[in-house]
Amino acid sequence: MKADLLLGLQWGDEGKGKIVDVLAPEYDLVARFQGGPNAGHTLEFDGHKHVLRSIPSGIFAGGGSAVNIIGNGVVLDPVLFRGEAEALEADGIDLHSILRISRKAHMILPTHRLLDAANERRKGSSKIGTTGKGIGPAYTDKVSRRGIRVGDIDDPSFAERYKAVREAHLEQLEALGCPAAGSESFVAAEAEWFDAIDYLRDFERVDSEHLVNRALDEGRKVLCEGAQGTMLDVDFGSYPFVTSSNTVAAGACTGLGIAPGRIGRVYGIFKAYCTRVGSGPFPTELFDNVGATIRDIGHEYGAVTGRERRCGWLDLVALRYAVMINGVTDLIMMKSDVLDSFATIKAATEYRLPDGSVTRDFPFSVGDEAEGSGNVEPIYRSFPGWMTELKNMRHAEELPKAFTDYVKFIESELGVPVTVISVGPDREETIFVR
Ligand code: GDP
Ligand code: IMO
Ligand code: MG
Repeated sequence: MKADLLLGLQWGDEGKGKIVDVLAPEYDLVARFQGGPNAGHTLEFDGHKHVLRSIPSGIFAGGGSAVNIIGNGVVLDPVLFRGEAEALEADGIDLHSILRISRKAHMILPTHRLLDAANERRKGSSKIGTTGKGIGPAYTDKVSRRGIRVGDIDDPSFAERYKAVREAHLEQLEALGCPAAGSESFVAAEAEWFDAIDYLRDFERVDSEHLVNRALDEGRKVLCEGAQGTMLDVDFGSYPFVTSSNTVAAGACTGLGIAPGRIGRVYGIFKAYCTRVGSGPFPTELFDNVGATIRDIGHEYGAVTGRERRCGWLDLVALRYAVMINGVTDLIMMKSDVLDSFATIKAATEYRLPDGSVTRDFPFSVGDEAEGSGNVEPIYRSFPGWMTELKNMRHAEELPKAFTDYVKFIESELGVPVTVISVGPDREETIFVR
């Protein structure tokens, strides 16, 4: 048996949570492989909405045998995890029986959050616009080989190790002009963190690489859930305006301990347009009313920070790149319904580079986030809109021709079939095309 992956092809918030929840009943195991509480994965069903941050979106699938894993590639904030888990248990989810946490997952410390804020403040106008959850500093400690992992909480030297890392962080904060040592809020944050560590002790902590590989050996089905999106990948995204993990398919190999040959289907998920939250270049961004209308209709506000998401037309140059890097086998198109009322719809097929040449390949640099002469210029193809409400459609045959023409064009540009079309936030508002 091979593990399937589901990951974002754009700048995050493509609708990963919704689709993992839809696909989860077919799987025995759902595992998050990277990111942390910077993610906000929204699920809607039975009139309820849930936003998951570090916990996999397979937890509502039920069935009793399903197991959800927080993999070693994730960075876990014990305090936010506790808040998320307690809310779910209050909703009747028996999380203790269905969730396992990798001992090798690194933890986000209170000082990581402070460092995230201090680093951003220091960058001023060139800030990344992070989610402020301490993601960058936690991954920095991981590669600096001084991070603290979930498995370390069972080590007698845990408190000592925490102290050593904390001291180094406090020195850094001091140097950044943001001293925290001794402050009332920091003392409270640390106490809350240690309480949350105790809460974590009640969850089963495992060597999840064995769990996942054994499940595959036994013929059980595994779905790996990505966070963020390909254009936020630390290697392939719009560096330095990226997150600090590998969001691409390879991230599932390192983030769960799955060999490349054991990867099966790669579900690449994208919206019918583009959004981005935070700073950084965004070639097809719309600064006009069209962008504002997409934001309004699509409710494009961050699930974690409430920030406005920047909106723009579909970018097939970026998407082609994402399909290549991830080895996407199936495309999943989200939020199609948001474009119902647009008479004309556009998609960028190529970029004109500052030297006047035209490319279909995503270049090293696309410029900066402002409209400017150093930026690439997207070359658009226009399509007549379908001007029909898609929300209540459930079968591919019901879809209007203008819509299916748009989808066919995307498939021909990307060379991969679109197998699922989402027409609303609810679980039910999903069309399986093939
Ligand atoms: P994720 O981070 O990739 O899981 O995506 P988010 O949850 O951050 O953002 C996707 C948003 O779009 C959520 O508010 C979803 O409820 C919503 N959504 C998902 N699919 C659709 C869809 O097909 N149509 C509409 N209108 N909303 C959708
Ligand atoms: P999901 O999983 C959208 C963005 C931040 C910022 C950059 C770095 O819900 O799709 P970080 O806090 O990771 O250091 O921020 O990445 N970002 C996201 N944007 N969706 C997300 O997650 C994101 N997680 C991080 O806005 O630009
Ligand atoms: Mg999100």
